[in-house]
Amino acid sequence: MFAFGLCSLLPIIIVLPSLLEGARILAIFPFPGPSQYINVLPYLKTLSSRGHEITSVSAFPQKKPLNNFRDIAVPEVFKSYDEINSKIGGATNSWKINDLRNEFFVSVTKAVLHNADVQLELLSPVKDHYDLIIVEVFRQDALYGFAAHFNAPIIGISTFGSDWNIDELVGNTAPLSYIPLVTTALSDYMTYWERVHNFVETTVAWLNWKLKYHPLHVKLYEQFFPHVANKVPLVELSKNFSLILVNQHFSLSFPRPYVPNMIEVGGLHISHKPAPLPKDIEDFIEGAGSAGVIYFSLGSNINSNDLPEERTQMLLRTFASLPQRVLWKFENDQLPEKPSNVFLSKWFPQPDILAHPNVKLFITHGGLLSTIESIHHDKPVLGLPFHYDQFLNVERAKRAGFGLGLDHKEMTSEELKIAIRRLLTESSFAKTAQQLSGRYKDQPMSPQETAIWWTEYVLRHKGAHHMRVAAQDLSFVEYHNLDVIGMFVGIFIIIVCAFVVIVRKFLGIGNSPKVFSKIKLKSK
Ligand SMILES: *[C@@H]1O[C@H](CO)[C@@H](O)[C@H](O)[C@H]1NC(C)=O
Repeated sequence: MFAFGLCSLLPIIIVLPSLLEGARILAIFPFPGPSQYINVLPYLKTLSSRGHEITSVSAFPQKKPLNNFRDIAVPEVFKSYDEINSKIGGATNSWKINDLRNEFFVSVTKAVLHNADVQLELLSPVKDHYDLIIVEVFRQDALYGFAAHFNAPIIGISTFGSDWNIDELVGNTAPLSYIPLVTTALSDYMTYWERVHNFVETTVAWLNWKLKYHPLHVKLYEQFFPHVANKVPLVELSKNFSLILVNQHFSLSFPRPYVPNMIEVGGLHISHKPAPLPKDIEDFIEGAGSAGVIYFSLGSNINSNDLPEERTQMLLRTFASLPQRVLWKFENDQLPEKPSNVFLSKWFPQPDILAHPNVKLFITHGGLLSTIESIHHDKPVLGLPFHYDQFLNVERAKRAGFGLGLDHKEMTSEELKIAIRRLLTESSFAKTAQQLSGRYKDQPMSPQETAIWWTEYVLRHKGAHHMRVAAQDLSFVEYHNLDVIGMFVGIFIIIVCAFVVIVRKFLGIGNSPKVFSKIKLKSK
């Protein structure tokens, strides 16, 4: 078994061929929440340590300068985030929820393209040269324009797995009958009505994007990349991805097909062996004795401070009544009524904490990175989902048998206590977590090594166009063979009509001119 927690840089350098000169790489990850960037940063840093020059467009520039790594900061995207957060309650049906999501990404895309440094350094006519574009593929299609602008191959990274929109970029096959939409919290085995639900939700999302928001990205593309937009339309550009790396793995979700240039790298961010814990945290964890420790974090995009006061009090009361100690990622560490078995901090070294054997349970918002980390470190989870794919991740943890879920708005102190007790005392949860962890870690290369390998493969083979499936050059009608099916249906109709005509003639009915003319009409 390849325990990739133990090895990071050294094996990559030994394993991978080093025929490659350092490449100039433009990475574009403008999502305003930190978790997307946390997911890719170790991969970008490893690329830079391997001699590639990285220019990274993001909202989270490095605090200390890094060799071969240059930031273009786009803090304007935080405004898009505040806007969407203020509107979230207003979205009541599927169409409006899609509106909200897509509007948000239009706003992020605009913020990037209007940023002064982006304009000066990336969009000005005297342009730098780049060998490769790496971009987060999440409805920010106008940004794919940089591939045409620099005439460079483009790699997409999805930090949450694939969806219909990402599948289209490489012509991936994803039958709706067993591939659920990320936001539906359905699994690969669906009942008839669940399949109906999945079909309707996916269609609504597809229509909302194609009719309303994709055209806006086309406009932005034409506005900001005028010199290439008249040669390569955005739709063509969007079908020309060299590679898509998806932060998912069949051992974490369910098996599904991928075209050759779509590669699973679930847990891309897990790249180091656990570091020693800070002294105070280590003492707290080890002082808990055999009762163990619960780690509670709602992730980097949700602040515990956003919880209503009444919820915070309920959580504190519940935690105070537990025999376990609790580490709680909480932005306000001066809480007056903090019980003595609770340790509050704005930030925790999450993977290192989850690696500690005395940490027995992870109470999480169910974000994908947290879910993968909990599996990696074989910890059962109690999921309190808030947004997007979190409901799906928690649902999967429940089905797989290593977790339980609760509604953070509705749950009572008693329900929370029961869930915690079950997760800690029923051994099946910990056993399942261990089994999943074993399956997940049993891979030929670590997710990060895999990602680096394929990234450099694209560089070595000048875009690796030979991996691209022919689906990308077919029309909708051709792809689904509608023309072929149409021909056979046509032949079938002609044969049936001919048969009817002959039978009628044979029986002598066909002599009536009235009936004959009716049949003729039918056969047209
Ligand atoms: C597609 O990508 C290849 C190599 O990455 C490039 O040579 C080609 O011009 C691109 N085509 C379009 C339509 O963008």
